[in-house]
Amino acid sequence: MIRRDFLRAGACGAVAGIAALWFPGAGSAHGAERAGPSEAGQVPKEAAKTQQEQLERRTIMALTLPDLPFAKNALEPYISARTLEFHHDKHHKAYVDNAIKLLAGTELEKEDAETIMKKVAGDPSKAGIFNNVAQAWNHSFYWNCLKPNGGGPPAGKTAQKINADFGNYAKFAEELKNAGVTQFGSGWAWLVIKDGKLEITKTGNADTPVAHGIKPLLTIDVWEHAYYLDYQNRRPDYLQAVIDHLINWDFANSRL
Ligand SMILES: [Fe+2]
Repeated sequence: MIRRDFLRAGACGAVAGIAALWFPGAGSAHGAERAGPSEAGQVPKEAAKTQQEQLERRTIMALTLPDLPFAKNALEPYISARTLEFHHDKHHKAYVDNAIKLLAGTELEKEDAETIMKKVAGDPSKAGIFNNVAQAWNHSFYWNCLKPNGGGPPAGKTAQKINADFGNYAKFAEELKNAGVTQFGSGWAWLVIKDGKLEITKTGNADTPVAHGIKPLLTIDVWEHAYYLDYQNRRPDYLQAVIDHLINWDFANSRL
């Protein structure tokens, strides 16, 4: 179900990238694995790989830094290109690189990101793995939650659910902003669906609803690196700008 949703939503490279992160084999770079014989009738080189080699390749793909689904300046003036340069190219990349290093040679190396998070959540001896894999996953998800000329009240399935579960859009927006504002220290504000009902929640540091079996529809990163260059200490202003101008409701709708 989730896999189908993502394949349906996967029009752009970044969504294909996140699909690969969550679902090994779904990313665009796996085209060679899915492809049949070439036009010349030759079996593609990739197809000749052993099953073990393919498994290893999928594991690497599961923790690849996806491209941003928009130009670095596309979210201005609300999120600057400079913020995205550091946030994506430095912070997100570091999580991916660290996760790959920490997983190398472990029994988790062959698992996809979601399985890893569920397996190691709450295990102090695997906190490094959890933190880096979860942050890699969270950031890939976050990029897809943003788009130029987004935000404001949604249309489609999410709008109906918001009205049913929050009463109206204004109450939803206020609750989402409040979750981000009141998250003490670093973390994330989320719109999730739990037992068929939309809820707002927040997590600290790298923690993520996915690790606890809860499906997110949207997130807003409230680590300082997400907004400090543009807003300094004004986290509420950053949250308001994302909610009013950047939320990608198409992505949320694709998750319902
Ligand atoms: Fe971040």
